Amino acid sequence: MNPDFNKTSMRQIMAVGLAAGTWLGLSAFAVAQGDAKPVEHPATYTADQADRGETAYKRYCVECHGDDLRGGLLGGAPLRGQSFESKYVEGPASSLFEVMSETMPPDAPGRFSASGYADMMAYILKRNGFAEGAPLPSDVDALYDLTIIK
Ligand code: HEC
Repeated sequence: MNPDFNKTSMRQIMAVGLAAGTWLGLSAFAVAQGDAKPVEHPATYTADQADRGETAYKRYCVECHGDDLRGGLLGGAPLRGQSFESKYVEGPASSLFEVMSETMPPDAPGRFSASGYADMMAYILKRNGFAEGAPLPSDVDALYDLTIIK
């Protein structure tokens, strides 16, 4: 089967499963596929990406999310710590990227380029202690294949 089709349909199925609030559909899908847990490729980033992301973060995000990423003056959600990790760790890197690029900043979602969002995500990953390595992609399909994992 065409791998792109596979990837897209998998994402659609995940979206439907999540929207319905049921993991049952998803597990049934995994069982139907008969495959074991796929090999996980950790999402990594370069030092340059994280540096550029830090500059952008301090300009556009810090007021709401704080210098230490634990929440700032204007009440943004913490981007570090348990509540953050419970949402994104062990999930596909595309989830965090999509939340950022589709909803942040609240007054102008999508105002940055895809690579700009990838840079900011690199900085968030760095501050959460994830390892540097290969560049973090800025393409949602490529990010979907990577897992946020230590
Ligand atoms: C005006 C304040 C404000 C600004 C500026 C802002 N955010 Fe947010 N951000 C929020 C709020 C509020 C939430 C929680 C939204 C919700 O739960 O629906 C949030 C949520 C998030 C989340 C999801 C956190 C989670 O727990 O799922 C991420 C990631 C994020 N912001 C990143 C950014 C980045 C990167 C920037 C800079 C480009 C930014 N935000 C700018 C207020 C802000």
